[in-house]
Amino acid sequence: MSLQNHRAVIVGGTSGIGLATAKLFLSQGAQVIVASRSQKKVDAAVKEIGAVQGYVLDFQDESQMKPFFEKIGDFDHLVVTAAGGATSHGPFGSMGIDVARTEFDSKFWGQYATVKAALPFIRKSGSITLTSGAAAARPMKGASTLVALNSAIEGLARVLAMDLAPIRVNVVSPGVVDTPVFSGMDAESRAAMFQQIAESLLVQHVAKPEEIAEAYVYLAKSTYMTGSVLQVEGGAILSGL
Ligand SMILES: NC(=O)c1ccc[n+]([C@@H]2O[C@H](COP(=O)([O-])OP(=O)(O)OC[C@H]3O[C@@H](n4cnc5c(N)ncnc54)[C@H](OP(=O)(O)O)[C@@H]3O)[C@@H](O)[C@H]2O)c1
Repeated sequence: MSLQNHRAVIVGGTSGIGLATAKLFLSQGAQVIVASRSQKKVDAAVKEIGAVQGYVLDFQDESQMKPFFEKIGDFDHLVVTAAGGATSHGPFGSMGIDVARTEFDSKFWGQYATVKAALPFIRKSGSITLTSGAAAARPMKGASTLVALNSAIEGLARVLAMDLAPIRVNVVSPGVVDTPVFSGMDAESRAAMFQQIAESLLVQHVAKPEEIAEAYVYLAKSTYMTGSVLQVEGGAILSGL
């Protein structure tokens, strides 16, 4: 399948994996719309990508969702890469429930609400691709919220593939990717962390966002893929990372 003249909406398409995905959809001939909360990031993404429409949207604010999709109108492919970023780690017994709820509010409920609001506008021949993370398949001690919410997204996508058919619903599950989500760390610590991760991975490097973007384009194009989780994690699961 070609993406020529297909319309793709990428919520979270102004940074990291979403930005790289927006560029790749565009290079395949799609008309691309990106959205995220910050006007500054939207403007920067539009400038960087070029022929793309950008909108300010907070996927945690349900009142913004319906007007956004009404403005966009009918389209073919929904990709959601948006997420707040913070992921708590620590012993389950000492983690506050509020912290877990905040993370679910962003990554899980945000994706859920986006699909619900977008549904009337997605063409029956189209696709929805959500984003989880390798932690769902390779749980780590002390990462209860991260593992639970990424697993919830994968479970949701499997049932949506049945409920929303013939619209196809899939998930991309990235491993560690060098994106602005790590920009809060100082450069030296980030480089040291990436080096350590790279040495443990089968592919011997931390992913660039462009390597993950390929998966979203593949799932949009592959008319026989639905209900699947595409693991793009450099062998992290086999490495036990
Ligand atoms: N990077 C990794 O190592 C990694 C690993 C596993 C999974 N993932 C997953 O991959 C996805 C993309 O991550 P990334 O590393 O590319 O992150 P990123 O560079 O921080 O990009 C996140 C994007 O989401 C947007 N966003 C955040 N909250 C939003 C909201 N409430 N409403 C609308 N947009 C919102 C951000 O823009 P605004 O700030 O303008 O809203 C930004 O465009 C996330 O689901 C993440 O959990 C990443």
